[in-house]
Amino acid sequence: MRQIIAGVLLVVMTSAASAVELGDPDRGLAYARDYCTECHAVERGDYESPFFGTPPFSEIANVPAMSELALISFFQTPHPTMPNFIIPSDTIRDLIAYIRSLRN
Ligand code: HEC
Repeated sequence: MRQIIAGVLLVVMTSAASAVELGDPDRGLAYARDYCTECHAVERGDYESPFFGTPPFSEIANVPAMSELALISFFQTPHPTMPNFIIPSDTIRDLIAYIRSLRN
C-alpha cells in the first residue's frame, strides 16, 4: 500500500515539475499585459496592435515558422525596437506557454 501511495505521489510530483518547465500561460499573460501591450495586441483574438507594424500575439501564435525554438531564440536577442529589453528566462517560458495557448 505504501509503495502505491509513493508511486502516485511521484507521478503527481513529476507532472507538476514538467508544468513549471513549460511555463505558466497565466503568468505569461500577466507579464505581457504589463510589458508588451504598449506595442503588441496580447489578448486572444485581438489583432489590432497599438504600434504600427507590430505583430499581434494571436497572429504570432499561428505562424507555423514560429516554433517554440524560434521564439526562444527571438527572446534571447534584443527586440529590434527595444535594444535594452531583457526578459528573464523563466518569464520567456511563461510567455511562450501563453503564446502557444493562443494557437487556433
Ligand atoms: C516598443 C514596442 C514593443 C514592445 C514593448 C514589445 N514589442 Fe515585440 N515587437 C515589436 C516590433 C515592432 C516587432 C516586429 C519587429 C520585427 O518583426 O522585426 C516585434 C516583434 C515581436 C515578436 C516576433 C514576431 C515575428 O513574427 O517575428 C515577438 C515574439 C514579440 N515581439 C514579443 C514581444 C513580447 C513578449 C513583448 C513583451 C515582453 C514585446 N514583444 C514587447 C515591438 C515591441
